[in-house]
Amino acid sequence: MQIILGITGGVAAYKSAELARLLANQGHRVRCILTEAGSRFITPLTLTSLTGEPCYGANPDQGEWRAQPSIEHIELARWADLVAVVPATANILGKAANGLASDLLSTVLLATQAPVLWAPAMNTGMWDHPAVQANLQRLRSFGHAVVEPAAGIMACGEEGTGKLADVAAIAEAIQVHGTPKLRCLNGRRVLITAGPTREDLDPVRTLTNRSTGAMGIELARAFRDVGAQVQLVLGGDLAAPWGVETVRVRSAQQMLEACEARWADADGLVAAAAVADQRPEALSPEKVKKSDGIETLNLVRTPDILAQLSGRKRSDQWVLGFAAESEKHLEHAKAKLEKKGLDAVLVNDVQHGKAFGAQANALTPVTAQGAQPTLGPLPKDQLARAVVQWWGHRLDLRQD
Ligand SMILES: Cc1cc2nc3c(=O)[nH]c(=O)nc-3n(C[C@H](O)[C@H](O)[C@H](O)COP(=O)(O)O)c2cc1C
Repeated sequence: MQIILGITGGVAAYKSAELARLLANQGHRVRCILTEAGSRFITPLTLTSLTGEPCYGANPDQGEWRAQPSIEHIELARWADLVAVVPATANILGKAANGLASDLLSTVLLATQAPVLWAPAMNTGMWDHPAVQANLQRLRSFGHAVVEPAAGIMACGEEGTGKLADVAAIAEAIQVHGTPKLRCLNGRRVLITAGPTREDLDPVRTLTNRSTGAMGIELARAFRDVGAQVQLVLGGDLAAPWGVETVRVRSAQQMLEACEARWADADGLVAAAAVADQRPEALSPEKVKKSDGIETLNLVRTPDILAQLSGRKRSDQWVLGFAAESEKHLEHAKAKLEKKGLDAVLVNDVQHGKAFGAQANALTPVTAQGAQPTLGPLPKDQLARAVVQWWGHRLDLRQD
C-alpha cells in the first residue's frame, strides 16, 4: 500500500516514527507530511531515514517558481492508497471537518480520493469538548475511520481519555481500512477456528500438539481486511488479532461448543485449528502421582468438530478444511474432502517440522475438481491473503 502519514503537533508525534517504521517493515511505502507544529516535535530526517521516502513540510507547492512546477498536493493526493493522520490534533480535526485547506496536509486531505484514517491524541478536556466530538462525527460521516484514543495518564499529568491508541493497533486499522473489499466476502460472517486444543490429564499436565495458531490468526486478519465479519475461536497462547471478535477455548469440547453456538448465523467456516484427536479418558482432580514400571494412559476420541459442523451445513454455507499431512498429501486431502463434505481442503506439508510455528509456508487447495495450483511458499500473513483471494475468486465464480 502507498500510505501518506500526516503528523500534527502533539506530544505523541514521537510515536509516529515507530508507526512509520512498522508500516515500512510490513512492505508499505510511507511518505510523511509534517505540519508546522508537527515539525517542532519530530524531525523530517528521522522520518526519511525510517521510511526511505521523502518527508514533506507544511507549505504546499514549494516548487512553484520552477519552469515546470509540480503540483505537490495533487500528486500526493493521487499517490496515496490511504491517508492516516497520527497523531491528529484537535486543530486538524476541526480543519478537515470544515473543508479548510491552509497547509499541505489539510490540502491533501481535501484533494484525495483515498480512504482516510484518524488517530487523535489530546488532553481529556479537549477530547471531551463538544466541538471536537462534533468534528469527529462529521469526519465519520465522510466515511473516514477513527482509531479512538486510550485512557491513561497524559503528558500534561491529567488522567483520562486522550492518549494515542497503541501503535500496533493503528497499523492494523490502516491495514483494514486500506484493503479493497471483496464483493462476495464483504459483510459476510466467517467463523474461523485456530490454534491447538489442550486436553488436561490433571491440574498440571495436558495433551496438546505443536500448532501455535499463527496461520489461523493470519487468516482471521486476511478475511477481516477484505470486509468479512470474523468470529475467531482460538486455542493456544497467541494474542487475538485486533478488531476480530475472539472466543478463547482450551479443549476440543469447548471449541465445538463455541462453534456450534455460532455456526447457524455464519456464511462460512474456516477450520484451521489443530484439534486434538484424543483426550484422557478421565480428568484427575489431583496431580497424578508417579509409580514404578510401565504406566498406562487411556485415551478416548474427542468430537470431530469439522465433521459435525459440516454435517449441518446449509446449501448457502461453505466450509474450508485444513489437512496437516506428512505423507500422501493429496490422497489424504481428497479423502477428507469427500468424507466430511467440504468445499475445499488446504493441504499443509508438516514433514520435518514444516508449518508449525515456521515463518513461511505453502498450501495446496484440493477441491472436487482436484488439486489446484499451490499457494506459496510465502510468509504466513501473505499466504493467508493469497488463500482469501483464491477463495474469494471461487465464491465470485459461483455467484455469477
Ligand atoms: C507542548 C505542546 C503539546 C501539545 N499537544 C497537543 C496534543 O496532544 N493534541 C492537540 O490536539 N494539540 C496539542 N498541542 C496544540 C497544537 O500543537 C496546536 O493546536 C497547533 O496549532 C496544532 O497545529 P497542527 O494541527 O497544524 O499540527 C500542543 C501544543 C504544545 C505546545
